Amino acid sequence: MPFNIHQEVPQHVMEEQKAIAQALQSRLKKRFGHNPLALVHTFGCQQNVADSEKLKGILAQMGFSFTDSPEKADLILFNTCAIRENAETKVFGNIGNLKQLKAAKPSMLIGICGCMTEQPHVVEKLKKSYPYVGFVFGSHSAYLLPSLLQSCLDEGKRVFRVAPDDGCVAEGVPAVREDGVKAWMSIMYGCDNFCSYCVVPYVRGRERSRRPERILEEFKKLVQSGYKDITLLGQNVNSYGKGLEEPTDFSSLLEQLNAVPGDFRIRFMTSHPKDCTHRLIDTIARCEKVCNHIHLPVQCGSSRVLKEMNRHYDREGYLDLVNYAREKIPDVTFTSDIIVGFPGETYDEFQETLSLLREVKYISLYTFIFSPRPGTKAAAMPDPVSGEEKGKWFRELLALQDEIGMEQMHPYIGRTVRVLAEDFGRTGEGILQGRTESNLITEFPGSPSLVGQFVNIKIQSAKKWALLGQLSQ
Ligand code: SAH
Ligand code: SF4
Ligand code: F3S
Repeated sequence: MPFNIHQEVPQHVMEEQKAIAQALQSRLKKRFGHNPLALVHTFGCQQNVADSEKLKGILAQMGFSFTDSPEKADLILFNTCAIRENAETKVFGNIGNLKQLKAAKPSMLIGICGCMTEQPHVVEKLKKSYPYVGFVFGSHSAYLLPSLLQSCLDEGKRVFRVAPDDGCVAEGVPAVREDGVKAWMSIMYGCDNFCSYCVVPYVRGRERSRRPERILEEFKKLVQSGYKDITLLGQNVNSYGKGLEEPTDFSSLLEQLNAVPGDFRIRFMTSHPKDCTHRLIDTIARCEKVCNHIHLPVQCGSSRVLKEMNRHYDREGYLDLVNYAREKIPDVTFTSDIIVGFPGETYDEFQETLSLLREVKYISLYTFIFSPRPGTKAAAMPDPVSGEEKGKWFRELLALQDEIGMEQMHPYIGRTVRVLAEDFGRTGEGILQGRTESNLITEFPGSPSLVGQFVNIKIQSAKKWALLGQLSQ
């Protein structure tokens, strides 16, 4: 599509797609002999979860309702992730499992979309080895789902629409959201950072931001519909606004959203440390609805390895940010992503990651062993440390984080914290689960009618992964 990447998909194109979707309603009903059911399965990150909610919105325009049962589904769509090799292996395993289903129900439509499909080797494999997959499209083309399905039905042929451009911004697609309390909202798409290990810039295209007025409009609707915890999504929210006609930045966006009336919380991810400024930290401190939790992925604690990763910050710069945030934001907490065993990382350098963990004291971590991704710089670097050795380092990291995480929980015992009740808990019957503003999971006995409300909880004990307490005034 010949759109400028900072330009929205023209409104008439979006309307055309909607009209195609509506026209498909009776055709699909006829094909399946009943109101059709779709199963949308999401792999990967929250960005994919948010995309799937929009895909469901488009499918709903075609008359689909939704099911979790592959046997009942008339259409199955996998929204895939390419971040690590095991993510891809998992998806191919799941696609393999659909063969029998399709054989038993030939009218079934099977589609694959999302990050994996933007890689030529994946498309080749789907073309050759998975003939029952009927339509394939990348995340750039998601808004074109109605016309893709239409061609699939018209021509009775397989349809592939992948990697045609750098990406654009499609507005006005309704979302069918998973949850009634927490909402995900993309504020930007793509990534321009090219961290040397990462496939995202190749599969998600160039960084592009939604216009602030579009975000504000959607955000206000979410608040009016009763959402209490809204997470703004982007691969690097700290560079929000670059390339927009009217220059703005993430701090200004947070200020605008914070000013929307109502009792709700604003979260955001991911914050790239290289673009995290003091101004942003001051804004988080000042905006009472913006949570005092920062997901600030460090990846590793060695400045040499950070340079090789192309992260554009060093250990000292990162620690300065953490210390500044600690000074300005009361009770601030941090979480992070860590990669163990980047090519050429030594055991001593890995120890620098452990010492950084001890300094920052994250409440929790997302930890990964390096996985070479085709086409990235790091995949071509010499990687002498064995998988077995990396596994040992990984376990050492987890053991240390268990200790550190637990230490972060203890000071809360005896305190009363404000928690948004989100769902049923894990610790037993009649137990609810929610989170504090600082993103600590909290479990407590309570009636399901409290879900969606803020409650005060007096903390009595702590587990590794949650605070446990009782309702209090
Ligand atoms: N944009 C976010 C990260 C999104 S990907 C950021 O820069 O912080 C989520 C995480 O997956 C990354 O932070 C990184 O820790 C991990 N990851 C990405 N590529 C990886 C790879 N090739 N091997 C192992 N972990 C990887
Ligand atoms: Fe990947 Fe780096 Fe972009 Fe994050 S910032 S998505 S790790 S390239
Ligand atoms: Fe995976 Fe794509 Fe997210 S590669 S982590 S689903 S942006």
